[in-house]
Amino acid sequence: MNPVPPPPATATVATGNTLLWTSEADTQAFAVRLADALQAVGGDAFIALHGDLGAGKTTLVRHLLYALGVTGRIKSPTYAVVESYALPAFAAWHLDFYRFNNPQEFEDAGLRDIFVSSGLKLVEWPDKADGHLPAADWHLHLSSAGETSRTVQLRGHSARGAQLWSACTGP
Ligand SMILES: Nc1ncnc2c1ncn2[C@@H]1O[C@H](COP(=O)(O)OP(=O)(O)OP(=O)(O)O)[C@@H](O)[C@H]1O
Ligand SMILES: [Mg+2]
Repeated sequence: MNPVPPPPATATVATGNTLLWTSEADTQAFAVRLADALQAVGGDAFIALHGDLGAGKTTLVRHLLYALGVTGRIKSPTYAVVESYALPAFAAWHLDFYRFNNPQEFEDAGLRDIFVSSGLKLVEWPDKADGHLPAADWHLHLSSAGETSRTVQLRGHSARGAQLWSACTGP
């Protein structure tokens, strides 16, 4: 007998700028749509990812980078602070400022150059570099709503961010 197929991913739009991902498949489905939307704008975007430990920030980034064509292991940058990727169409950086004791460490680590470069910047724990980052295209807040459920809120965005959000959540 064939195994029962998994339920389809839904990436439900709950209200306006809030989503509910009921499983990691939903997270992945959203990442695939985001990858398409980013490709369409040339990949130049800064996405700030907020949320507690284990909220799913790195998981979303992994699905996104795989959808953008990264092969092999995607390491969490919690210790290295930044991981760089040369994608076929654009550069991408995955950063995690969790271990910063002071926002000044952003400057000391020489990270400003990344944010004046064209490409995709995905940042976990952006508040730890408060006052040093440019305006983000998305401020995405993830929170656990159960073992595999995650509530996702877009709490701030640029004009480009609004365009990306429509592309990710529209019909
Ligand atoms: N719907 C979901 N979306 C994302 N992750 C999920 C989901 N359901 C379960 N998970 C699990 O939750 C965990 C999320 O861990 P992850 O490392 O992505 O969190 P994080 O927000 O990056 O935490 P940290 O602040 O420590 O870096 C993973 O083990 C992942 O498999
Ligand atoms: Mg993480």
